Amino acid sequence: MIKQRLFTPGPTPVPERVMLRMAQPMIHHRSPEFNEITTRVNENLRYLFQTRQPVLTLTCSGTGGVEATMVSLFSPGDTIIAVNGGKFGERWVKIPKTYGMKPVEIKVQWGKAPSERDILDALKSNPEAKAVYLTHSETSTGAATDVKNLARIIRENSEALVCVDGITAVGAHELRFDEWGIDACVTGSQKGLMIPPGLAFVALSKRAIALMESSTNPRFYFDLKKALVAHEKNDTPWTPAASLILGVDTALQMIREEGIEHVWKRHERMAHAVRAGVKALGMKLFADEPSFAVTPVWVPDGVEWKRFNGILKNSYGVTVAGGQDEFAGKILRISHLGYYDEIDMISILAALERTLADCGVAFGHGNGVAAAQQYFLTNHD
Ligand SMILES: Cc1ncc(COP(=O)(O)O)c(C=O)c1O
Repeated sequence: MIKQRLFTPGPTPVPERVMLRMAQPMIHHRSPEFNEITTRVNENLRYLFQTRQPVLTLTCSGTGGVEATMVSLFSPGDTIIAVNGGKFGERWVKIPKTYGMKPVEIKVQWGKAPSERDILDALKSNPEAKAVYLTHSETSTGAATDVKNLARIIRENSEALVCVDGITAVGAHELRFDEWGIDACVTGSQKGLMIPPGLAFVALSKRAIALMESSTNPRFYFDLKKALVAHEKNDTPWTPAASLILGVDTALQMIREEGIEHVWKRHERMAHAVRAGVKALGMKLFADEPSFAVTPVWVPDGVEWKRFNGILKNSYGVTVAGGQDEFAGKILRISHLGYYDEIDMISILAALERTLADCGVAFGHGNGVAAAQQYFLTNHD
């Protein structure tokens, strides 16, 4: 028997409590019972994003949530600055183009995060910009963006809205929507929220809500104005993915029980332990400032990725993510986003060690596991 273990940055493992909750009989979404659940979910989403503003639940994946902000807040011809430092940032440049808006791309090398200078230069050259889109954790490269600092820079130097793709950051990284002056932030269900794919969550500031009044972009289903009106009654304009909403209700209760600060800290500790482990195995990290959600690592020299991944999966039951685009076959990405604990990190390192040994790589057997154990023993929450 080989037990399957998922270490991908979305979908992420679903806790047993959440799976049992989603297996409950269907209830109708326009009923007092369901409204009681959505009322609690909406309140707990505010806690997750650290906001008193509404957080809308949409039935779509994360991309739909970001597209919804673009079509609902802005208008054709508007200038939208977007950081492109990987697969996802690239998408935030393509969507505005599709709708006849003017995207201004801040191109950042893969594995790096945008600097203050990058943002300031783009704002200076485009003073009419309506928004700056940042990717908090660029999952394709693992690079983390200092959203707190860049949000301050954007606020101090422009009228542009601060819009954040928090799809693999919410739950993994400190995020204080109100305090940091964020205007729109999106996450997806299959990430730090630990439920299957199918829901997006969108937090909106007062400035963002006000801007919706003048938006002339074409839209129907992804109209956040309609979602906002329904949200006032803890309702949704369309039939929601009701079973997923039961799941997120339980997942949010788990986050509340642990406490959001502890959830952030746990992710930070998992990331540091994995990094200590892979370095002790002689593997090299890819990103300069890796996010706490995912650790991308170079495939060791002389090792063929397909063979390595095949052994990891077929002999040890471990699924990790590979590299994308020009880094396909060159890096692997180990997730520690969502439902993971210390022993999970020891398991992934043990599986990596066995796979490296099977591939004939020379390293100190047990060194990766020992480095992570040492980290955990000396760094408590
Ligand atoms: C940072 C980031 N942004 C956007 C997306 C796209 O989200 P989805 O696949 O849920 O549409 C992902 C998915 O992996 C992501 O990691």
